[in-house]
Amino acid sequence: MDYNYLYMTSQSKEEFSIRLKEMFSYTRFFHSQLGRLSVAAFNKGVLSTYHSEFEESLISNVIEFKPIRLLLSSSLSELINNKKIRFVDDLNDMPKTQHIRMLTDAGFMSSLSFPIVDNDKVVGVVFFNAKQKSYFSSEKIKSDFIFLASLVSSMFVQVIYERKSYQQLLDVALKIGHHRDPETSQHLKRMGMYSELLARLLAEDIPEITTEFIHRIKFYAPFHDIGKYRIPDAVLFSNAVFSDKERSIMNMHPIYGEEIIDNVIAISKIKNGQSEDIMFLKNIIRSHHEAFDGSGYPDGLVGQAIPLESRIVTVADVFDALLSKRAYKDSWSLTEVKKFFIRNSKKLFDPVCVEKLLCNIDKFVEIRNDFDDSREMLTSNRSF
Ligand SMILES: [Fe+2]
Ligand SMILES: [Fe+2]
Repeated sequence: MDYNYLYMTSQSKEEFSIRLKEMFSYTRFFHSQLGRLSVAAFNKGVLSTYHSEFEESLISNVIEFKPIRLLLSSSLSELINNKKIRFVDDLNDMPKTQHIRMLTDAGFMSSLSFPIVDNDKVVGVVFFNAKQKSYFSSEKIKSDFIFLASLVSSMFVQVIYERKSYQQLLDVALKIGHHRDPETSQHLKRMGMYSELLARLLAEDIPEITTEFIHRIKFYAPFHDIGKYRIPDAVLFSNAVFSDKERSIMNMHPIYGEEIIDNVIAISKIKNGQSEDIMFLKNIIRSHHEAFDGSGYPDGLVGQAIPLESRIVTVADVFDALLSKRAYKDSWSLTEVKKFFIRNSKKLFDPVCVEKLLCNIDKFVEIRNDFDDSREMLTSNRSF
């Protein structure tokens, strides 16, 4: 293997997933046994896949991306605590967790796991899998993969750093905004997760949805209503039916939200306020109340003219709002919610998003149950 070529590829200006894809196929040219290369982020005890490459589409994108909470006793926890590379010569000897079963079902026999360390802390793991037992234990093969893993690891640390500076600032803005937002913080968490899930499901048919798209929507969906913090209390916390005037005040929140982001950018050190990330975030904030038939606000955009990220967030937001109990309304049953989406497909919602939601409704309900509101005090809330 030409290490220099791999190094140059890792340093190119392409997006992370494009560089990884190229490095994976280059490595497979020399090591055809390599069937999977996966990079997972590790944060607060939870491992979540960032990007995976497979020899063929062996494993469903959606199963693979379920975050895993690591058990203290697992061998991966040991890898994270000791920051040591782990070799598994036969995956059949491992405890049969859902994740291991997914790998063995796909025919994988061995693995190499490499901790990604930044500032003495494990921030992720690089995984390699092969269909041959003990594949990574051979000395010659081992060195190629350790070299590749260190390149991938520094690429990943670089990705984290690039986003860290302004994401921290945005997080502060979200916390300040949320302080007087009647929404529960669980709603914000669920918004990231539903939107991510919907994007992953859509990715099977829509090439525009890249790994970067998925990570962006997961991180930025919770910001959709940040503009609400400029809405006066009398309107924001009202449980009565809105007058026309109150409605028009409330409908300003997407525009206020965009202005808040502009202010955050102005006080931060972000050089490029028009970067793809910022545009993506602003699209979510400005257009999450647009309707597919053009009857939404603030711009009355129609169909595909509404950014895809906004169409996804709209479906996630309404799905969550309908299932939630609020001071002015009861929660709806799942049957009623499904009927509402069927009735409003092509009207309020992108029909493709509705179809994915309805065909995979159990997965969305699972998120809902895992992050329910029960421990938070509920006040009024109007999501749409
Ligand atoms: Fe909103
Ligand atoms: Fe919302």
